[in-house]
Parts: sequence; C-alpha cells; structure tokens
Amino acid sequence: MKNVNFISLILGFASLATACKSGINSQTKKHSAATEKLETRYKMLLDYPVDSMSMPRSMNIKTNEIRKVPSKDWTSGFFAGNLWQLYRLTGDSKYKEQAQKWTPFSKKESVNSNSHDVGFKVFCSFGEALKVENKKEYEAVIIKGAETLCTRFNPKVGSIRSWDFNKEIWDYPVIIDNMMNLELLFEASKLSGNPKYRNVAIQHANTTLKNQFREDNSCYHVIDYNPISGEVRKKTTLQGYNDDSVWARGQGWAVYGFTMAYRYTKDEAYKKQAEATALFFMANKNLPEDGIPYWDLKDPSIPNSARDVSAAMVMASALYELYSYTKKENYLAFADKLIASVQTDQYILDTKIKAPFLFDHSTGNWPKHDEIDEPIIYADYYFLEALLRKSDKGTK
Ligand code: GLY
Repeated sequence: MKNVNFISLILGFASLATACKSGINSQTKKHSAATEKLETRYKMLLDYPVDSMSMPRSMNIKTNEIRKVPSKDWTSGFFAGNLWQLYRLTGDSKYKEQAQKWTPFSKKESVNSNSHDVGFKVFCSFGEALKVENKKEYEAVIIKGAETLCTRFNPKVGSIRSWDFNKEIWDYPVIIDNMMNLELLFEASKLSGNPKYRNVAIQHANTTLKNQFREDNSCYHVIDYNPISGEVRKKTTLQGYNDDSVWARGQGWAVYGFTMAYRYTKDEAYKKQAEATALFFMANKNLPEDGIPYWDLKDPSIPNSARDVSAAMVMASALYELYSYTKKENYLAFADKLIASVQTDQYILDTKIKAPFLFDHSTGNWPKHDEIDEPIIYADYYFLEALLRKSDKGTK
C-alpha cells in the first residue's frame, strides 16, 4: 500500500475505532479533515531550510517565533528523526533527501561527554538513519556515542550520571529520562559485538529499577546519589511540580525505557515495571477524558493546567511496543485513544502557521516557565514513531 493511502489508513485507524459513538459518517469526515491537515503539516518540514547551525525545537505560540537550538541541545536529533520517520511512513523520497541533509547536524555530539543526552541526540538521528540506510558511517557514530556515554558511568552507583549542573545541590543526579539513552548502548553492543555498552545499560536499568519508583509505581524525576558510597542522597525533581508529584513525561520515559530494556534483555522485571507504571498512568484520576495528560498529574491547578502532548506521545509509542510483548488489549486501546485524541483540531497545529511542527500543546519545563503549552519537536517524533509501531513498520 502506498503513500497517501497508506498514511490515511494509519492516521484514521484510531478515530475509526471510536466511530460508533458519533456515527460513522461524521467520524469519517472528521478523520479525513484531520488527515489532510496533518499531511499539510508534514510538508512544512520540507519547507524548513537546512541550517547547519541550529535546529527548530519549539515555537512560542503567541509570537510565532521558532526556538532554534545548536547540536549540544538534548533535542538536536529529533528533526532528522522526524524526516526519516516521515520517509518510512510515506515513501516520499523528498523526506529522505532532507533527512540525509539534517542527520550530520548532531554528529559531533557523539564525542560530547557533557551530559547523558548523547543518547537522544545521536540515536534519534543516526539510529533512525540506520533503519533506512545500512551505512557503516552511521554505525560508527552510534558506537562512538555509546563509548562517550559510558564515560559517565560510575560502577559504585551503578548508573550513568545525567547532569553536571546544580553541583551545589546534587552530587550525582540520575533522571528517569536517562533510561531512554540506554537504547544507544544496547544497539552499539549489537553493532560492534562489544558487550561493554550493554553491560552498562543493564546496570543502569537495574539501579533505576531499585531506586526510582514509588510504591504506587509512579516514578521520581531525579535521584541524587553519593558517588563514593553509591547510596541514595535524595529523591527529588527538577521538571515536576514538586518532589512527590507525578511529572507526566517522566512516566512516559519510564514505561518506554523499561519496555525497550525488556526488548534487548528479556528481563521480566523490566516488563513488570513498565506494565505497573503504565497501569498507574492509565488509571490516574487526574487524567482528562481524552487521555492527553496535564503536564504533572499532581498539579493542584488541574483542570486549569497545561497539557503535555509530548508525554502522551511518548506513552503511546511505548504502549504499542508493550502490547507487542504482552498482547494485553488495554495497552493497545489506550495507545489508540491517545493517537486518536491528538489527531483533532484541538491538537493539530493550525495549518495557517508556517512552522516545522505537527502538534500544539506540549509542555517542556513548567517550573522554569519554559515552553508551556506550545509545539515541541519531540511530541511529533514520538507520534510518528507510534504510527510506525502501530503499522508494524517500526523496528520496535
Ligand atoms: N530531559 C528531557 C525532558 O525534558 O523530558
């Protein structure tokens, strides 16, 4: 099945699943309007000029100003990743040509050991490239990135250090987001045959499993360790409402990270944690009816609080993979619901706005008043990945 027809099918599957509620005809009309709107938005990624100095990360929805970032930003791999994924979804070679031009943007980050984000930066670009083109140069960047990431591993703690800032507050901060970087390590071991990267990933996942979750299976954002003794110093947050709150995207990183770690290890404990955190999230009483979470599920302003489409899309993509291992229909149904919810006028960015983004209403860093309720590139990335996974074209 080809291009537009194929996209229409994928974009429409979830909305059609709920068609009986409001009548097949009106639902189909809505579906095709959303499909058209999204296809228009897809093409705007092609209109964005290649810029070797900065990448579009997000957009101030009041001023329409695009926030552009250099390769050292943690999001620098997503634009290339979006183009690769659009190529896989549509088969349109224009996306591939543009992806090839953008992929080198984050290459130098494979030797930047200043944060754990080397995984996001290198794997969301070069990892996606490798799914389309079997090139040794892509593999080399991934292996180099893994080598760099391992320099941040402390065997006493059993974790990769996430951040180097706030040294007056934290000794050795490890954030739940860091689980996402393990995919780079697992994949690098497969590509190189060197078990070192995989071993580091497993130790990191085990330490996270031990310390990062609460009794109710929600997760903390930041665990601060003593780097000499390896003991936990503090369980805290940077991007959540407070230390004991439920930062929505963090729950997504946890479910995604442990499902992915299960893919490479088949360790049942990882799958168990992914399922427990997914169930916690799906049953949360503060989740709105359409499933797109408030940025923190314990924000006291709920329901007058900002949503986070990015958290929903990370969760949707993770749940499709979790479903593939468990065959539990509730994960599939919830992921379908999230994907249907974003494909509506409420969330698709207005086509009058010329910008390389698909969705509005993500929240980046609420405590810092940064990127609140606006288009953010990684929401688009995990949406596209979710479509590929749902269509079975995803490499998990
Ligand atoms: N550090 C990744 C995030 O903001 O979710």
